[in-house]
Amino acid sequence: MPRPKVYVTHPLFEGPRAALATRCDAEYWQEPGRPPREEVLRGVADKDALICLLTERVDEALLGAAPRLRIVANVAVGYDNIDLAGCTRRKVAVTNTPGVLDETTADLAWALMMAVARRIVEADAFARSGAWAGWNLDQFCGADVWGKTLGIVGFGRIGRAVARRALGFKMRVLYADGQRAPAEVERALNVEKVEFDALLANADFVTLHVPLMAETRGLISAPQLARMKPTAFLINTSRGPVVNEAALVDALASGKIAGAALDVYEHEPQIGDGLRRPNVVLAPHIASASVETRTRMASIAVDNVTAFFDGRRPPTILNPEILG
Ligand code: DGY
Repeated sequence: MPRPKVYVTHPLFEGPRAALATRCDAEYWQEPGRPPREEVLRGVADKDALICLLTERVDEALLGAAPRLRIVANVAVGYDNIDLAGCTRRKVAVTNTPGVLDETTADLAWALMMAVARRIVEADAFARSGAWAGWNLDQFCGADVWGKTLGIVGFGRIGRAVARRALGFKMRVLYADGQRAPAEVERALNVEKVEFDALLANADFVTLHVPLMAETRGLISAPQLARMKPTAFLINTSRGPVVNEAALVDALASGKIAGAALDVYEHEPQIGDGLRRPNVVLAPHIASASVETRTRMASIAVDNVTAFFDGRRPPTILNPEILG
């Protein structure tokens, strides 16, 4: 049997790369930055598998250009870059990387929350500038995090990891989600389920942990921002289009909310000029970016591909119905 051919849109890391080599012939995109679309279409044309990042669009055009394709392994938990229904129609397996990035992403949500509340980025720039003339009572006063109300929108694995970190901060923690968490989880994490509007009205920090889908696109728009307290902060480590960026810029400019800390943007990699404000902390989509976690994510993608070609169920398959 010929070895399966895989197109990989990133060089990956040493461990997962070596694991893939034991089972498949892989062609890697080796240049810095992301491959242009034409390059991805060329790469997949004669391949049995694609290992890609969230920056690659797996749509009808790509599927049409890859007649041999049997599996797409996304190195991300979010898979809004993939036409899952289209893949399923063509019996192409799709996998993602759930479970390994929850804690790392929760760490970044907290880092952003602390940074924006305590004005860390502004203070760092000031300290480096050489302008500091000495301690003063009202220098860089920000907002307390401890003892405040945290509102978690989306209470899956990542939302719960964010809640767990709040336990040491004596916070009231509210969550909004279509589904109620089991009573023992609510008790252990000391959280209360509330309606989305009540969360917006009561939280001092609103942090988003929902996947991007039709129902969550623009979930935070002008009416939701208007419901938030003028002293509240918005944290987004989910997907950019969950927030209507123009509405957020207006809310920040008019003081409807106190600030925002963002890891994701509506039109990545563009960051709207209106977001470049002192009360906004900006990160370039790095929530899962620890060496350990990104290596685990790449390993899961490779495991899925090797399992598939070994005739085993890919561990994190999203459309198991294609396996028959
Ligand atoms: C994901 O996995 O969906 C993240 O956004 C990448 O960290």
